[in-house]
Amino acid sequence: MKEKKMTKHIAILPGDGIGPEIVAQAVRILDKLKADGLDIDYQYAPLGGAAYEEYHHPYPPYTQEICQQADAILLGAVGGPQYDTLERSLRPERGLLAIRKDLNLFGNLRPAILYPELANASTLKPEVVSGLDILIVRELTGDVYFGEPRGIHTLANGEREGINTMRYKESEIRRIGKIAFEAAQKRNKKLCSVDKANVLETTELWREIMTDMNKDYPDVSLTHMYVDNAAMQLVKAPKQFDVIVTGNIFGDILSDQASMLSGSIGMLPSASLNESGKGLYEPSHGSAPDIAGKDLANPLATILSLAMLLRYSFNNEPAAQRIEQAVGQVLAQGLRTQDIYEVGCQKVSCSQMGDAVLIAL
Ligand code: IPM
Ligand code: MG
Repeated sequence: MKEKKMTKHIAILPGDGIGPEIVAQAVRILDKLKADGLDIDYQYAPLGGAAYEEYHHPYPPYTQEICQQADAILLGAVGGPQYDTLERSLRPERGLLAIRKDLNLFGNLRPAILYPELANASTLKPEVVSGLDILIVRELTGDVYFGEPRGIHTLANGEREGINTMRYKESEIRRIGKIAFEAAQKRNKKLCSVDKANVLETTELWREIMTDMNKDYPDVSLTHMYVDNAAMQLVKAPKQFDVIVTGNIFGDILSDQASMLSGSIGMLPSASLNESGKGLYEPSHGSAPDIAGKDLANPLATILSLAMLLRYSFNNEPAAQRIEQAVGQVLAQGLRTQDIYEVGCQKVSCSQMGDAVLIAL
């Protein structure tokens, strides 16, 4: 019997700021793969400020339905200064948090890799960062980001108080631990769990569970580090890390920090996965409103996010590698968008970078 071929569906969410222009370059790559036989189709939907403008909500039912039905989601970026004065629940970032929660995308993978060609783009000395290859596994649907109670209220004496709650259930720690241990097994088998167990009970539990899980992954060498020390070690000796696993808020901060080791946040993709491998893929950078619409943005993080989509949600390693090799090739050719430009290279626009990757493909 012939194996039944199932078309895979991708939801494309361009978002705000530079989102639409960088996503457009990734879609050109997708079209090329499709023309070469990849069995996919895709549908666009708005998220963030774009969705607020069309539907008065950053994650409207229209987008929710398309995303719930898709096998994977490719996102540009959300946010912009014009939305900063909106009521909190309508701001673009709330759309991003809502889609993460709605689709249960608890496992956030943020690689920080230094391409050899970009060793001088980092603000750290080349010898400190060359060969850098770290994977940050960030828990994405719990912690102080979602914990209740939360809010701003007024005390009896009239003074206002802001509240957020850091909490993690054992099951939430175990499921992110599983992703991290398994990722470490596929890499150099080193896992560093980052917490603040000397002060915060939530992360004391985190440390205990990670230590317990290590019994099921005896081939992985597990270490623990307090988050303040981890921040220091990341700039002092970043190559000591292989896989880092941490909670939502620490992961938010450490992943931005790690991204700069690699020279430009414009190079880094990310994946946010649920238990069944469905994922949302987005560049690690934001919507960069200052350069939006000018064809200046670096589309490589989005193109590399597409590679992660093919790898993790569609199990298509050859297509993922084909994209990654094409990106390596354009860097080797000396093509650079402005964020990674250095003297002696050729400065190109966002769309010219897209042209070059397409040719290399
Ligand atoms: C990120 C971003 C988001 C976060 C914001 C935009 C809500 O900083 O993806 O790291 O804090 O998670
Ligand atoms: Mg962040």
